[in-house]
Amino acid sequence: MSVGYLSEIVFENQIPEGSYLQSLPVVRYLRDHTCLAFDADVTFLVGENGTGKSTLLEAIAVACGFNPEGGSRNFHFSTNATHSELHACLRTVKRAYPKDGYFLRAESLYNVATNIEELDRERGCLPPLTESYGGKSLHRQSHGESFLALVQNRLGGQGLYLFDEPEAALSPMRQLTLLSEIDRLVKAGSQLIIATHSPMLMAYPGACIYELSDAGIAKVAYKDTEHYRMTKQFLDDPERMMKYLLDF
Ligand SMILES: Nc1ncnc2c1ncn2[C@@H]1O[C@H](COP(=O)(O)OP(=O)(O)O)[C@@H](O)[C@H]1O
Ligand SMILES: [Mg+2]
Repeated sequence: MSVGYLSEIVFENQIPEGSYLQSLPVVRYLRDHTCLAFDADVTFLVGENGTGKSTLLEAIAVACGFNPEGGSRNFHFSTNATHSELHACLRTVKRAYPKDGYFLRAESLYNVATNIEELDRERGCLPPLTESYGGKSLHRQSHGESFLALVQNRLGGQGLYLFDEPEAALSPMRQLTLLSEIDRLVKAGSQLIIATHSPMLMAYPGACIYELSDAGIAKVAYKDTEHYRMTKQFLDDPERMMKYLLDF
């Protein structure tokens, strides 16, 4: 449905000597395989904590021109410059230029909200930016509410959207709401790349799931992901799992 704005990333430059990136399996995989394709409307990056999902997503975001801390391509604030130099090693191959775009990371939504308020104060009599986020300050809503307000009001389609663990603030019901928002954006010609641990989100039909591990990056089917298998095993028989885990 979407034209797919980002078609692949190509690993081109050397990682600086001594950087922790040298030993990250996902980076070694990119160096050895040179490129990673993004052929689906929705691509999920899944895998254990510490496998490099955020590092990869952030590098893609910065290479695509987004602020490393989040926001649209117009955001330039920085509260704590901790992003890696991986973006400088990547070339992005695009099929088209998106009309809209947003990089959203759960842990920096607070800073995005602060920046929107600051911009509104600076802009004076211009229409407040807060209006395009639903009209209510993102700071005056819960984490989950402000996240969904941003997605529902600000993201209009024909865009490239990058989310890092968007489920962090969301109840299971709101994760279903986010799934229907993802579908709305796809049907409006968008491409999404989402790092997630949510077995609900990664069920989105037709998505490409890249699993990151010590072995690098592998494309996996939904029901073969560790997240699906582990969650299913648990919910099928929580008592058995407790007995095994805690010797109850
Ligand atoms: N600034 C840094 N210096 C050293 N190691 C880092 C730095 N940032 C991240 N790492 C390490 O890189 C690995 C990947 O981190 P991250 O991309 O956040 O993983 P994920 O998002 O998959 O949980 C982790 O082992 C983390 O400790
Ligand atoms: Mg992460």
